[in-house]
Order: sequence, then structure tokens, then C-alpha cells
Amino acid sequence: MKVMEAIAERRSIRSFSGRPVEEEKLLRILEAGRLAPSARNMQDWKFVVVKDTGLRRRLAEAARNQEFVAQAPIVIAACGTSDYVMTCGQHTYTIDVAIAVDHMTLAAVEEGLGTCWIGAFYEDKVKGILGSTPNCPSGRSAAHGLSSRDCKHRRGYAQTTQTTGRDSGLRWMEVMK
Ligand SMILES: Cc1cc2nc3c(=O)[nH]c(=O)nc-3n(C[C@H](O)[C@H](O)[C@H](O)COP(=O)(O)O)c2cc1C
Repeated sequence: MKVMEAIAERRSIRSFSGRPVEEEKLLRILEAGRLAPSARNMQDWKFVVVKDTGLRRRLAEAARNQEFVAQAPIVIAACGTSDYVMTCGQHTYTIDVAIAVDHMTLAAVEEGLGTCWIGAFYEDKVKGILGSTPNCPSGRSAAHGLSSRDCKHRRGYAQTTQTTGRDSGLRWMEVMK
């Protein structure tokens, strides 16, 4: 699929079948986020993959009871991990995370999946629900490990992605090898 086709086809989807998303598709979507540009290449994000039904229900409540948040088989909480402010006065994480999320929404189109941004949520409540997540939604950045095989100098999945509930983050790394 051409980029322009994905851009034209993407629209916000607020009704979901509940059919599970194939792991390979999810990984390609996360890869699109991981490869996004960021100010100073800080990659100041963490993508928290939420599949657990109970957690999605609680996230929906924290998102002003938007029911489709609980209905979607996967919620990706995109968290900033740096407080860095650019010369222009803007926090890097709000812009960087938005670009990464947009990459993911377009990649989802290519995978035949629907997405919807969620901006209407209470940050403190989401923090409480995803409490074990370090530096989420914002905080100081951790040291970055760069893979010499990665010509775009992007952090690997272990640093950028975290699953909640039954899945372990380790599994993601194993799948990507
Ligand atoms: C930053 C941001 C936050 C948004 N928050 C919500 C939201 O909380 N709930 C919702 O239903 N849609 C949300 N949207 C989706 C917009 O309503 C939608 O993108 C807009 O109406 C244009 O429609 P389209 O995405 O189908 O092109 C959000 C979109 C953006 C970019």
C-alpha cells in the first residue's frame, strides 16, 4: 500500500468486532511507531500494549466512559518519557509521541485494522491503572540502548514496548529476533 493511500483511507473507527489482532500485525504497527522521528532522536516514548479485558474496561472509564475503548481488542497507551523542552518552548514528548502514534494509525490501515486516537482521558487515572509503567505518561528519560544493527539508531522493543496483563515483554523481544 502506498503512503498516500493509507492517509486517504484512514478514519477514526469506534466500533470493533472483538476479534483478536494477529501478533504479526501488531508488531508491524509497533515497528512503525518505533521508527518514527523524534527531537534529538530521543525516542522519548513507551508504548504500553493493553490486551487485558479488565484493564481495557478501566481505561475506558478513565477515558470519559468511551465504550469503544473497552471494546477494542488492543489499546496502546503511548507515554512520554522525558520532560525535555525544546528551544521553541514545546515539550518534545507531546510532538514525538503524536508522530509515533500517527505512524501506527497509518500502519494499522495497511494491516486492515481500525484505530481511534484517544485524547479525552484523565492522565492521573490512566497513570493509576498502568501504575507499574515507569515514567508514564511523563517523566525523566532512561538511558537508551542502541543496536549497532539498527541503521536508523532506534531503540529496540525492550525499551519502547511493554505489555500488560498476561503477556510478558520478553515475548515481544523473542518474536522480533
Ligand atoms: C489528539 C486527538 C485526540 C482525539 N481524541 C479522541 C477521543 O478521545 N475520542 C474520540 O472518539 N475521538 C478522538 N479523536 C478522533 C477525532 O475526533 C477524529 O480524528 C476527527 O474527528 C477526524 O476524523 P477522522 O479521524 O475519521 O478523520 C482524537 C483525535 C486526535 C488527533
